[in-house]
Formats: sequence, structure tokens, C-alpha cells
Amino acid sequence: MDAKTDASLTLIDLEPELEDFRQAVVEGLSSSPQKTLPCKFFYDAAGSALFDQICNLDEYYPTRTEISILETCADELAELVGPDRLLVEYGSGSSIKIRILLDHLALAAYMPLDISRDHLLQSAQKIADDYPQLDVMPVCADYSQLTNLPEYSANPEQRRVGFFPGSSIGNFTREEAGDFMRNVARQLQPGDGFIVGIDLKKESDILRAAYNDQKGVTAAFNMNLLKRINEELSAEINLQGFAHNAVYNQALGRVEMHLVSQLEQQIKLGDQAFELAQNETIHTENSHKYDLVEFQQLAEAAGFKARKVWTDANNWFSVHYLER
Ligand code: AVJ
Repeated sequence: MDAKTDASLTLIDLEPELEDFRQAVVEGLSSSPQKTLPCKFFYDAAGSALFDQICNLDEYYPTRTEISILETCADELAELVGPDRLLVEYGSGSSIKIRILLDHLALAAYMPLDISRDHLLQSAQKIADDYPQLDVMPVCADYSQLTNLPEYSANPEQRRVGFFPGSSIGNFTREEAGDFMRNVARQLQPGDGFIVGIDLKKESDILRAAYNDQKGVTAAFNMNLLKRINEELSAEINLQGFAHNAVYNQALGRVEMHLVSQLEQQIKLGDQAFELAQNETIHTENSHKYDLVEFQQLAEAAGFKARKVWTDANNWFSVHYLER
């Protein structure tokens, strides 16, 4: 562990092991019968910019719906959470969601966790500039691997509240989501809160549209993985040879994104070649959708009490206040 001092910020660097991109690609393309690529590699600079565009698409309802729910419930959340907490955000982005909480909750400190060091420092610095009373302590870590939070040195006994917005938990399988929440429960004390945003099951047409937008931004986001393979691993994939497709898998309650090979072709990586049949797909992302009660049961099995939930008028998205 290594602390670097910025103008006013100290970064706690837990030095998450960056999974080797080449190794992950080789593994995913070797996987049979379903080829895969891990969704965490979407978020290079270009991919993060595309994701920000996705959040503003007409069809992509989750971001704006969650923001409106948070704005509605922020005062109630403030009361449930109580004053003077350390807010731990799992996978902070450049999100405006955190600012809604910072504006309404009387927090003592903010600990954003993110794997992307530069992005983390930049956005933490902006928060520190805009909220001078707030003690900001960025931690560079992979939240899906982290077992213990670093000590909050100003007050190791500080009561905490966790925040995990955006339905990011949907990238986990149901089982992994349970494991993740059990892990978060271990990082909190009895009575501490955990605020989680969860996308809900709904008519499949709405889900399909949200992940197959008219402007093709989600397609570009998905294809960005192939672009990265070309640029970083010197492959020569013809991007025209793939099409984006997102389907709702009803049985598993999840949207799946795929890259569909338009023809029989090979992907060459160094001295290895991966054969794709026409219409064969590479599965790139899962986005699990929940029923309210189903999610509450998962949270309760992981060591939380489901204290309160807010939804929008359509019941498309939910914000949960869980208590350890
Ligand atoms: C950031 C993982 C919640 O699954 O909805 C958006 C990512 N993928 N469009 C989601 C995403 C395609 C998003 N999460």
C-alpha cells in the first residue's frame, strides 16, 4: 500500500492487479461452446465516453430514472442514514449521482473506490474542490475483489454507509451478486446502511430497445472491444464482419449483449487463430434484472435488512436502503 499526496488528496493505492487483456481475450475466445469477452474491458477512455453517451440516450432509461428516484428520496435517505458518516462508493465514475447524496446527506467523509486510477483521482479532486468540508479519500481498488476496506485513519470507528448505484450489480450473476453483498456486509457494522440501485424486470421490448438503440451508440460501445483487440493486441479484425445484438434472456432474467459474426472468419492473435462460424456470437455482457422482492430476499440472505425501497411511477428502476 502506497500513499501519494496530491494538492489536497491522498490516494490509497491497493494496486489492483490489472488482468492481462491478452490473456483474458485468449481465454474468452477459447471458451466453448460460447465464446465470451469480459465486460470490464469496455471501459477504456473511448468506451467510458461511449457509456456516458449511452446514459443520455432516449431508450436507455436506467440513468435518468435512477437520478429522479434519488432526487425524490434523498431527504428520506438522509434521515435513515443519519449524520456524520463515511460514504463508501463501490465503483465511482464521473457520476452526478453521488452529488445528489453529498447535497442531502450530512456526511463526514467520502471514500470512492475505483479500479481506474487516473479517472478516480480526477473525479475525486473535483468532488474535493466542490465540497471543501468533506474529507475525500480515494481508494484505487477492484471492488469485486476487495475483502477489507482500508482504515479511515481520521477515525477508524467512523460509521459507514455504502453506495452502489447504476444497477452495476447486474453485471454479476445472481450468485455473484449475493457473494458481493455478503462481502459488503462484512465491511459494515450492524446498523450501517447500503444504498443500491437495481434495474427491474419489465416488458422485454423496453429492455431490448434500451440495449439496441437507434443511433447505434450501444453497438459502438460493444464493438469497442474488437477495436481494442485490434489496437492493443495487433489483431486485424474487420469490424464490418460483426454486428451488435442484445437479447433479453427471459429464463435467466438478463439482457445479454453479443457480437455476431456475419460470416465464417478467423480472429488471429499472434500465432493463435480462433474460428467463428457465420452467426456464431461472442457474449460480451450480462445485465441482470430483478423483481423487487427477489432482490430484497437476495440482500437479506447476504446479511442485510431491506428497510426501504423507492421506485419510479413505471416501476422500471429501484433504489434500496439496506441495513446491515
Ligand atoms: C453500467 C453495467 C449497469 O448493464 O445497463 C449499458 C452497462 N451496457 N448499455 C448496463 C451497459 C450496455 C450498464 N451497467
